[in-house]
Amino acid sequence: MKVNVLFTHNIVEEFYFSEKTTVVIDVLRATTVINTALFNGAKEIIPVSSVDFAMKVSSGVFGGITLLCGERNTKKIEGFDLGNSPFEYSPDVVNNKSIVLFTTNGSKAIVKTKYSENVVTCCFNNLDAIKNYLLDTNKDIEILCAGNNGHFSLEDLVCAGKLVSGITESIEGVFLSDSAAASIILAKSYGKNIKKLLHTTEHGKILKENGYEADLDYCSKLNSVPIVSHFSSGVIKRLN
Ligand code: MLT
Repeated sequence: MKVNVLFTHNIVEEFYFSEKTTVVIDVLRATTVINTALFNGAKEIIPVSSVDFAMKVSSGVFGGITLLCGERNTKKIEGFDLGNSPFEYSPDVVNNKSIVLFTTNGSKAIVKTKYSENVVTCCFNNLDAIKNYLLDTNKDIEILCAGNNGHFSLEDLVCAGKLVSGITESIEGVFLSDSAAASIILAKSYGKNIKKLLHTTEHGKILKENGYEADLDYCSKLNSVPIVSHFSSGVIKRLN
């Protein structure tokens, strides 16, 4: 098995992912929100890469049972039902709903992986569930960190590094790209106290300034949402 880590989605094109097994990570906060919504009973998530497309999708086919969700500059977009805090996606709000999700980096990164054979969305909350899925699938892995507007996000890399370490500790003969090897080192030095890490990264500080400090604690919890969320034909659904 070969494992590669991409530091941000802006460095590759859609066709890069053709027939690959891809993991998308956006700890703060898109993949954490997606996993929470599915864990709390949402029927499906439809990630989109523009606000206009989000409006079109939610007003059309899925009218009535759809929630239009997401953020710009971390805040809920005017006219949307929900923003991008995992606390907004409670069971009473999301049960059986189709959620159209636009976020600055995360939803765009997921849409970009659409030609993959398999895509799963990972965060600290479902790390072991994703690791076990990848071990069962037994294919080469691309881990795509959403990053922040084309820049590296430390929390995504540390999450990737923990996933890569979990895989190398479980099976022999894993070939690591240089970036995958680097992610393990980052996970070793920054991954001991994830809560502290999220409070000190660039995006974590912005979320704190904007009043989302509780989100950081939520996003730091290991394996609190033990699901596999799988993206196929434009829609993310819970597999297990
Ligand atoms: C993103 O996709 O950039 C993030 O989810 C932004 C956020 O924290 O809301």
